[in-house]
Amino acid sequence: MDKIIVNGGKPLYGTVAIGGMKNSALPVISACILTGETCIIDNVPMVSDIKLLLEILAASGAEVKILSSTSVQINCKNIQPCSSPDDLASQLRGSSYLLGAELGRFGEASVILPGGCSIGSRPLDFHMKAFEALGAQCHIRNGHIEVETTEELRGNTIFFDKVSVGATVNSILASVYAEGTTVIENAAREPHIVDLAVFLNACGANITGAGTSVIKVKGVKELHGCRYSIAPDMIEAGTYMVAAATVGGRVTVTNIIPKHLESVTNKLIEAGINVTVGDSYITVESCGKYKAVDIATQPYPGFPTDMQAQFSTMLCYAQGTSKVTDNIFPSRFRFVDELTKTGANVSVESNTAVIKGVESTGCAPLTCHDLRAGAAMVIAALRSEGASEITGIDKIQRGYVNIVEKFAALGADIKLVMDMGSVSYTSATN
Ligand code: EPZ
Repeated sequence: MDKIIVNGGKPLYGTVAIGGMKNSALPVISACILTGETCIIDNVPMVSDIKLLLEILAASGAEVKILSSTSVQINCKNIQPCSSPDDLASQLRGSSYLLGAELGRFGEASVILPGGCSIGSRPLDFHMKAFEALGAQCHIRNGHIEVETTEELRGNTIFFDKVSVGATVNSILASVYAEGTTVIENAAREPHIVDLAVFLNACGANITGAGTSVIKVKGVKELHGCRYSIAPDMIEAGTYMVAAATVGGRVTVTNIIPKHLESVTNKLIEAGINVTVGDSYITVESCGKYKAVDIATQPYPGFPTDMQAQFSTMLCYAQGTSKVTDNIFPSRFRFVDELTKTGANVSVESNTAVIKGVESTGCAPLTCHDLRAGAAMVIAALRSEGASEITGIDKIQRGYVNIVEKFAALGADIKLVMDMGSVSYTSATN
């Protein structure tokens, strides 16, 4: 089993160039299904979730060409609906976007119930409500979601009781060709929604209001190809910022859009961390001592649930007691069991963790329960004195490109040990 070994207690110094956003690349790559022309997508993070989605498109008949470590060429002229391989599609939540894209283009779609991070209940009822509002029929049969329409999809108003990134994405994908206008009310406002709309408009769609809670999609007849660069990953950036705050040192994250991270930046400042915000970078400077703060996750532009585990880990070492409430995924606290093994003082009640800061923790074998919890384990290990061993790292590799190399370049004593049977490969470290 591959693992990450960290000798903690060393401050971090340097610069990290942030890559494209996984949660934006997944909808944009899925949206390529809507056109038979060639699309080139740049700044793609080649993480395992993205590689899986590209494999699914290719297996369904698309032409997929990797142009470089961050660019891919996709042509879905010959893609077939309802043909995503179950063994691949069942591994990621992003495969749910095939439903909206295939329904939008072909009037039918069928995908195995998607996988993804085990962070609590992740139903798809909002997605199905959106498809039905456009005139489609949805069924769950043999572990698959099947969506079809006998008539042309017709624009309608879709109102979400709760903000949902995925359901907003699928509403846009399914309505691009629908007759008339679709109005999505209480839409998600994440930067990845804006990315999707900008990409589709560059292909000839007519989408307005992305980034606000009301999105309008006027149906068009056809879409052409285009070349598009994915927005920077605000969660990757936030992860390195919080790591620097926790471990101490001075780290600058570059190639970012600081506005996307305002809620995280403001919380770091509230904790007494020194943060400098530039046009396309943020510098975090910390001595490793900071105040306790309270966090409550909210849809964008509120504090992101995808930063909750990392920030909760930072608060384990704060001066005072913090309260962290996850309003998006109430049970997204499995990582706490791992932190308490190191000596952290955290108790969880319902959707809230009460974190009593301690000066230091020991090391312990840590396992990754999901993608962001995995990043939190790395942060805990970087802070803890002594050698920590982290397993289940395939979950981290779903969303972070070269996390070991990037932390090693910041001065961390960290290495990846790949278990190849009798031989183990250790990546170079400082
Ligand atoms: C996306 O998941 C992200 N995944 C998640 O990131 C992220 O945590 C989440 O949005 C919130 O920002 C991808 O983009 C691939 P939601 P998604 O629909 O779309 C409930 C990561 O770490 N809900 O916004 O599945 C749901 O249970 C991953 O990168 C329904 O009840 O999240 C949750 O409580 C983890 N019914 C809330 O809405 C539905 O049909 C928000 O979920 C859909 C959602």
